[in-house]
Amino acid sequence: SKEVTAILNEQVRNELQSSQIYRGMSCWLDDKGWIGGSKYYFKTAQEELGHMDKVYQYLFDRNALAKVPTTDEVKQNFKSIREVLEDSLEHEIKVTKNWEAISELAKKEGDNTTYEFAQGFLKEQVEEEEKFRNLLFKLDLNMPDWKTDELFESLL
Ligand code: FEO
Repeated sequence: SKEVTAILNEQVRNELQSSQIYRGMSCWLDDKGWIGGSKYYFKTAQEELGHMDKVYQYLFDRNALAKVPTTDEVKQNFKSIREVLEDSLEHEIKVTKNWEAISELAKKEGDNTTYEFAQGFLKEQVEEEEKFRNLLFKLDLNMPDWKTDELFESLL
């Protein structure tokens, strides 16, 4: 439907925005000398482009008109690695809500293929949120920034 196409195009934009947000974090981390963190966020930004491409491919496969979005400027200044992680978790919670809205709309419309498509992303969102929650949990154990940087590197 027109509504499902619109919400999926909105999600193309959300995934691109996610990529930009994480790229901004990668730049800040690099500038501060946190090379492991910078690489980690650079890779995360690439993965978000992969999510966007998956939505594009789905729109193509369903013969729906896909659009090229613009994005908002992103934050490029942070107080600490903690702030980067808190923003990341907060952002992923928003993305989960986006996919829940897609899932709800698809269910309401009896669009089972889009519903299934959204379920795949919702499953992935559990991991996306968990990833940042775990890192924050480790920071709560008073992990110094240099150790966090090493931890990022080990996750690559
Ligand atoms: Fe595309 Fe990190 O969710």
